[in-house]
Amino acid sequence: AKAPVRVAVTGAAGQIGYALLFRIASGEMLGKDQPVILQMLELPIDKAQAALKGVMMELEDCAFPLLAGMVGTADPKVAFKDADYALLVGAKPRGPGMERKDLLMENAKIFIEQGKALDAVASRNIKVLVVGNPANTNAWIAMKSAPSLPKENFTAMLRLDHNRALSQLASKTGKPVDSMEKLIVWGNHSPTMYPDYRFATIAGQAAPAAVNDDAWYKNEFIPKVGKRGAAIIEARGVSSAASAANAAIDHMRDWALGTNGKWVTMGVPSDGSYGIPEGTLYGVPVTCVGGKYQRVTGLAIDDFSRQKMDFTLKELQEEQDGVKSMLG
Ligand code: NAI
Repeated sequence: AKAPVRVAVTGAAGQIGYALLFRIASGEMLGKDQPVILQMLELPIDKAQAALKGVMMELEDCAFPLLAGMVGTADPKVAFKDADYALLVGAKPRGPGMERKDLLMENAKIFIEQGKALDAVASRNIKVLVVGNPANTNAWIAMKSAPSLPKENFTAMLRLDHNRALSQLASKTGKPVDSMEKLIVWGNHSPTMYPDYRFATIAGQAAPAAVNDDAWYKNEFIPKVGKRGAAIIEARGVSSAASAANAAIDHMRDWALGTNGKWVTMGVPSDGSYGIPEGTLYGVPVTCVGGKYQRVTGLAIDDFSRQKMDFTLKELQEEQDGVKSMLG
């Protein structure tokens, strides 16, 4: 039997945590032969710690054969101790009257502290996925705050956007989602993201030809994928949780176990390609093999794409500028 791996999850008693932990413990993320130890972090307030205790009781009650241990804590250094994987879900939500700038700063505090804790105690090979918003900038802050860990170990979640785009294309063309390849979502996990179908194929056919409706692509599809999060809040009264947890599982599973040549979207620190300044946490197409992601390189960027990619980049740079002073 394999030795257990340590999986840290922050915001463990929140909505996404509740949709995520049970799937990790059942083996859906790292494989049905991989035991896991869950190391769960919640805020040091009674209500959050009590809720976490309840979640741990339910995990216990599932009697998952792969769940080799559990830790519940309010201390990041305990949660991240020797962690092989970290899913950073917990973040400060936007409160009434809160400016975007305040939200950025509040989250910067959290991700500076958590980056430092990862730097101090996590496995040197840790794979970090940031889900908590603003996800790209939070991942960038954690990466900057963990200078002794390889930068490529820090990623942000664009997979929900990628999956949303796949489903929209599937319903437009009437083809199954798994017949689609090579879709990309460039940039920031925000309404400025750019879902790009120029290289995609649907059941073997070029996506633009299969869709055959450029006006739909530009005027309906792109904004719909970008605003899907808001549409879910409008319908449900709370933000996407099960689909976000599902995307986190997809992201980590593919990173750890490989994509067999399939392209997926991950937010990763740029290597300077595609005109994205080095280090910027930006959604790009990757394939994964042997526990590493590799960028898809050499794609042509046309004028429409350049403009979209620069627009979402500009937003990311503004976010970075907003928190730079806190990074010292
Ligand atoms: P939630 O509010 O239900 O749960 C968040 C949990 O995190 C709470 O239990 C809270 O106590 C905890 N928490 C807050 N600060 C923490 C800290 N410093 N350390 C540890 N725990 C902390 O929120 P939900 O719905 O689970 O969403 C979590 C985050 O994921 C939000 O920031 C949301 O915007 C983001 N999100 C990102 C998506 C993406 O595609 N990247 C998609 C959907 C949500």
